[in-house]
Amino acid sequence: MNMTDIILPAPRKEGGMSLREALSKRCSTRSYSSRPLPLQTLSNLLWAGWGFSHANGKLRTAPSSHNRQEMTLFVMLPEGVYTYDAKSNKLLAWMDKDLRSSTCMQEYATVAPVQIVLVSETAKVTGKTPQGVIESIYANAGYISENLYLAAAAEGLVTVARAMVPKEDVERALGLAQTQKITLVQTVGYAPEPEAGISLFRKMASYIYFTLLRVSGWRCPETTDTIEVNGQRLFYSVRGPMNGKPVVLMHGNGGSHKSMTTQQIQLAKAGYRVYCPDSRGQGANKPLEEYHYADMAEDCYCFIKALGLEKPVVGGWSDGGINVLLLEMAHPGTCSLIVAAGANLYPECCDDFEGFKAWVLEQGTPLALMMIHEPHIEPSELSAIACPALITCGSKEMITVAHTKLIADSIPDSELEVFEGDNHGSYIKRDPRFGRRMLEFLASHGY
Ligand SMILES: Cc1cc2nc3c(=O)[nH]c(=O)nc-3n(C[C@H](O)[C@H](O)[C@H](O)COP(=O)(O)O)c2cc1C
Repeated sequence: MNMTDIILPAPRKEGGMSLREALSKRCSTRSYSSRPLPLQTLSNLLWAGWGFSHANGKLRTAPSSHNRQEMTLFVMLPEGVYTYDAKSNKLLAWMDKDLRSSTCMQEYATVAPVQIVLVSETAKVTGKTPQGVIESIYANAGYISENLYLAAAAEGLVTVARAMVPKEDVERALGLAQTQKITLVQTVGYAPEPEAGISLFRKMASYIYFTLLRVSGWRCPETTDTIEVNGQRLFYSVRGPMNGKPVVLMHGNGGSHKSMTTQQIQLAKAGYRVYCPDSRGQGANKPLEEYHYADMAEDCYCFIKALGLEKPVVGGWSDGGINVLLLEMAHPGTCSLIVAAGANLYPECCDDFEGFKAWVLEQGTPLALMMIHEPHIEPSELSAIACPALITCGSKEMITVAHTKLIADSIPDSELEVFEGDNHGSYIKRDPRFGRRMLEFLASHGY
């Protein structure tokens, strides 16, 4: 290892932004530039998070249960991983590997220059039940995290606390002991600067494409309406020629008919009549206290029947993909073809279910909670699907390629398409590739 410890400049403990202003500015940010932090800024931040606050060298800027101070901040920088030693005000060399992106299940975080991993030494949390240990270390992590949030605001940085982290993988990669547990990761950096070069070009190209698509979509304008089905009033939009073959598109968790506008316009321009309902309790519909995939699938079935759509193609993304599978399983032969993007058969299939669960619990809404309780589809049940299916995922998404392949393999007549290098939505949201692949699939089946 040719890394050496880094001596940090003394942290600035006076002046700066007022606490009230920092509180007003504090927020979670999910967009970063890769610009590195100056050492002075990093020193100020780490001190605020978990430095020693009093001259006696016993008390820290954040409290800890019984003052056990069991937390260590692992600071991941492009140069490698360090631990923050508040006493000597140094970053102690830990590992000369850039592990920043290993902590990220969400794309936005991979760009940030600093990931601060909050690691608890649970062996120090003695005299507690296992549940008590968990409560203690997570509460302690919360205080540090809030300090980091406020310090970031005061330093003109942006940050987000992340529980959605593949914790066991990162613990392994860091070579931690069994007793050392990751509680949170704090992503820190600067807000993105005005972009230049290729990324700006890509952004502009995507903007121009989408604008042109929308403008050309005006030739097949959107109409909207509501309809009462299965005891729910659903809002929906329609595009495409009146006599076009019907296609229904179902959006994902928390989305709306707008989520798949790109595909709606692509399909409408190709001559299909495209219907996009807002799933129950979402989009323009009234929120509900409880959600189930089976209800949404049944709503879609009733929607098709109520509008008299003759054997439509039904496509869905994420939750919408699950609904499509459930719909055709419950009512085989309803659809001519189905397309499911980023669908899953059970919640535990994702890469880091515990991280995902923590994130969902933190959201706490009935709609989000559904994702950790449902669905429960046995692969063998997919044999009920009576029409050809196109099943897709991104190679870098939470729903693994292996799981998506399991879905495709369990449907009697199906095709699998993995979008290389893509995440859950990057090939769908404002991107023409998914729509093109759908059009190919429809054409190949003479639809
Ligand atoms: C314990 C905890 C875990 C969190 N995990 C994540 C996460 O994994 N990913 C993420 O994008 N945001 C995460 N957040 C950020 C919250 O989503 C955010 O605090 C919340 O939406 C409120 O927004 P605000 O911080 O801007 O007030 C987490 C926050 C906390 C406190």
